[in-house]
Amino acid sequence: MIKIENLNKIFNENKANEFHALKNINLQIKNNTCIILKGVSGSGKSTLLSIIATLMKPSNGVVKIDETIVSKLPDLHASAFRAKHIGFVFQNYNLFNSFSVNENIAMATTTLNLSSKTIKDNVAKAMKIANISHKENQTVSNLSGGEKQRCAIARAIVNNPEIIICDEPTANLDKQNSQNFLQMIEELKALGKTIIIATHDPIFDTCEFIDVVFHMEDGKII
Ligand SMILES: Nc1ncnc2c1ncn2[C@@H]1O[C@H](COP(=O)(O)OP(=O)(O)O)[C@@H](O)[C@H]1O
Ligand SMILES: [Mg+2]
Repeated sequence: MIKIENLNKIFNENKANEFHALKNINLQIKNNTCIILKGVSGSGKSTLLSIIATLMKPSNGVVKIDETIVSKLPDLHASAFRAKHIGFVFQNYNLFNSFSVNENIAMATTTLNLSSKTIKDNVAKAMKIANISHKENQTVSNLSGGEKQRCAIARAIVNNPEIIICDEPTANLDKQNSQNFLQMIEELKALGKTIIIATHDPIFDTCEFIDVVFHMEDGKII
C-alpha cells in the first residue's frame, strides 16, 4: 500500500517566485492496482510522481510505501529503496542515447551488486516482457519512439520492482504503439505490479484494468 498524507510541495519557498505545486494531497494506492493521475499540464502530476518515486522530497507531509516512510529517507537510502522497489518510465525516456538497449537496461542493475550471470538473466527477462529483445544490441539513438519506450519499460522492470510509475507514457506514441503500451501495462498488472500512470490521454478512459482515476487540478486532488 502507498499512503500519501497531507503532502505539500512548495518550490522556491520563501522567495519571490515561491510556487505551491502540491496542496495537501491525501491518497492511498492499494497493492496490485492500476491508478491514473489525470489532469492538464501544470496540475502537478510529474511533481507528485517524483515524490512518490523518492526522486524529490516534499516540503511537508508523508509518503509511506508498505512499512517504509520513503519521504524521510536520506538520499543514499532513497536511491537504494528506489532501485529495488520502484521502476520509473520518464516522459522523455531518459535513456543514454549512445549506449545499446542491453547496456541501458543493465546499468539500472548496478546498485544491487548482482553476479554478471544474474544481471544477464534479469536483463533478458525484462527485454522479453517489454518486447524489445530483438533490438538488444541496437544503439538507443537508432530506435523508434515506441522502441525507446519499450527499452525504458525494460529498464524500469529489470530489478523486478513492485511499483511501476509512468509519466505521460503515450504522449509521444502513435495509436498502435499506445495500444501496445496498454497491453503491456495489463500484463504487468497480471504479474502483480502496482502501476501509477500520469496522463491526460483519453485512450485510458475505456481500460478495464484501471482501478481508480484521481483527478488533479491546480496542485490538488479533486
Ligand atoms: N523545479 C521547479 N521549480 C519551480 N516550479 C516548478 C518546478 N517543477 C515544477 N514546477 C511548477 O509546478 C507546477 C506543476 O508542474 P508539474 O508537476 O510538472 O505538472 P504536470 O506534470 O501536471 O504538467 C507547474 O506550474 C510547474 O511550472
Ligand atoms: Mg508532467
